[in-house]
Amino acid sequence: MTYQNNLEFAQKLDEQDELKAYRDKFHIPIIDGKETIYFTGNSLGLQPKSTIDYINTELKDWAKWGVEGHFNAKNPWFAYHEMFAEPISKIVGAKEQEVVVMNNLTVNLNLLMVSFYRPTKSRYKIICEAKAFPSDQYALEMQVKNAGLNPDEAIIEISPRNGEHTIHNEDIISAIENAGDSLACVMIGGVNYFTGQVFDMKAITDAAHSVGANCGFDLAHGVGNIELKLHEWNVDFACWCSYKYLNSGPGGVSGVYINERHCNNTDLPRFAGWWGQEKETRFLMEKGFKPMKTAEAWQMSNAPVLSMAAHKAAIDIFDEVGMDKLLKKQKLISGYLEFIVDDVNESLSSSNKSLEIITPRDWKERGCQVSVIAHGFGKSLFDELTAEGVITDWREPNAIRMAPIPLYNSFEDIYRFGEILKEAL
Ligand SMILES: Cc1ncc(COP(=O)(O)O)c(C=O)c1O
Repeated sequence: MTYQNNLEFAQKLDEQDELKAYRDKFHIPIIDGKETIYFTGNSLGLQPKSTIDYINTELKDWAKWGVEGHFNAKNPWFAYHEMFAEPISKIVGAKEQEVVVMNNLTVNLNLLMVSFYRPTKSRYKIICEAKAFPSDQYALEMQVKNAGLNPDEAIIEISPRNGEHTIHNEDIISAIENAGDSLACVMIGGVNYFTGQVFDMKAITDAAHSVGANCGFDLAHGVGNIELKLHEWNVDFACWCSYKYLNSGPGGVSGVYINERHCNNTDLPRFAGWWGQEKETRFLMEKGFKPMKTAEAWQMSNAPVLSMAAHKAAIDIFDEVGMDKLLKKQKLISGYLEFIVDDVNESLSSSNKSLEIITPRDWKERGCQVSVIAHGFGKSLFDELTAEGVITDWREPNAIRMAPIPLYNSFEDIYRFGEILKEAL
């Protein structure tokens, strides 16, 4: 597609957009009476207008039924999580029995590491990306310490090469090969939260398996954003949050994928609770944990239904649209944002060209997010954008992360952002 930086062109793309009706299904934040240009769906996705009804349904059933709502509610609470197996498996490319929705992301990451990081005297290392999201770094550090090991010896971080911002997949793979028999687990953010880089998850998984290690991904920035084929790639485990691209509300419930061969291995160590117990014996209240043979076996507690109701509202929209249409628009709209940033940069005088896109240019290596370093600018640039109603994410000292979201961002949003950015620079 050859893009143009003018309003007519942006409006034409909006007219042709097969998802254009969906913008109206979301609450777009309004500041000073004007709709904002919301580019932070990679941080907190917008609220579907239907969410309130989904939550109200459960509140009404709670009022009507009390405890009987576990079985008599319109969506019986004891099985509420089961409604997600089909739609979530489609979003992440898994079998239905390989996914479950539960807890929050870092909690799930820790639970999964209990099962998939089983260090021995000789095999105890973890490979992750340098500057992984801090919560992941802390989780890995403490998993290692809990095993009585030293994080400086056990955790291998892969960095970008000198002067670069993104990591070469082949550097991850050669680190895996070099670690060889000492490697217990690879755990990487499938889409880097800072640069928006999408890693080659299949190649990384294959490399980990070739040295006998497990491989898992934090997909906070991948789920609902990029194409995922977790089962086909033979990934061992993954987890994600639902409040970013999945629009399920602040602190929304997390999701987990566990490959079926691990689900079938009931001897695999794990932390446990009654919601992971075989359904037939769950309510007999007897001794002896017998895990289900699905990802549900990792559930410990009964479902947080009110939070899951918000998740259901959002996932029903995803299911109606389907990932194919979302991915098509994702490629087009992130490409338009990239074009506009470049065009604004080009329009600056040669001594003022300050914008550097650090997200990979190849659309196969990125999703919605475009991260830009504004050389020579401080937070005042971000503040100015915010004052003009452009909601972006600022990372010190000079990075702006933006993600146009196929469900609710328009091409006109991006054109208007370009005009505001030009003015601000
Ligand atoms: C990549 C990544 N991992 C982990 C987290 C932490 O998520 P939570 O607070 O839901 O545990 C985030 C939050 O934004 C994230 O972006």
